[in-house]
Amino acid sequence: MLNRPFAQIAAEIEEFARTATNLVALEQFTVERIAGRLPAYDWVGFYMLDPDDREMLELGAFVGAPTEHTRIPVSRGICGAAVAQGETMVVDDVRADPRYLACSMETKSEIVVPIRAHGRIVGEIDIDSHSAAAFGVEDRAFLEKCAATVGSFIEKIESSRGLPWP
Ligand code: SME
Repeated sequence: MLNRPFAQIAAEIEEFARTATNLVALEQFTVERIAGRLPAYDWVGFYMLDPDDREMLELGAFVGAPTEHTRIPVSRGICGAAVAQGETMVVDDVRADPRYLACSMETKSEIVVPIRAHGRIVGEIDIDSHSAAAFGVEDRAFLEKCAATVGSFIEKIESSRGLPWP
């Protein structure tokens, strides 16, 4: 059971996903809703696996400072580790993690949550905070719920086209 405002935001994203017609629109709604309501979430974005190169993550919709990391190999960064290890990464102090690829000098902690469709990872939600150790068990549960909503949406649109992702 998610606490408010997490439950409310997760429900709004689910509601949007029911009628969204494309993934870009759902990504955009999701990052704006999350960043707009949660002040400690200073950078909120999607990285999705390139359908033509499943070893490469591509930046999708985001809210926050522009990043030079628009393409990240799955062998690099905390973003890559979430795909390579197939699990949520929570980093309380990014400066202490040698995998960290700097996006903003102000970032102190990060969480990366994989998105699965048809049982495979297709991308992830990445959040940076200017506060250390900003992401706890509730943040993780909330973001995993959001990732599940996006994964289900991808399954829905792909099956309506008769194609598996990617
Ligand atoms: N910090 C990430 C790179 C992406 S930026 O945070 C937007 C990483 O270490 O993979």
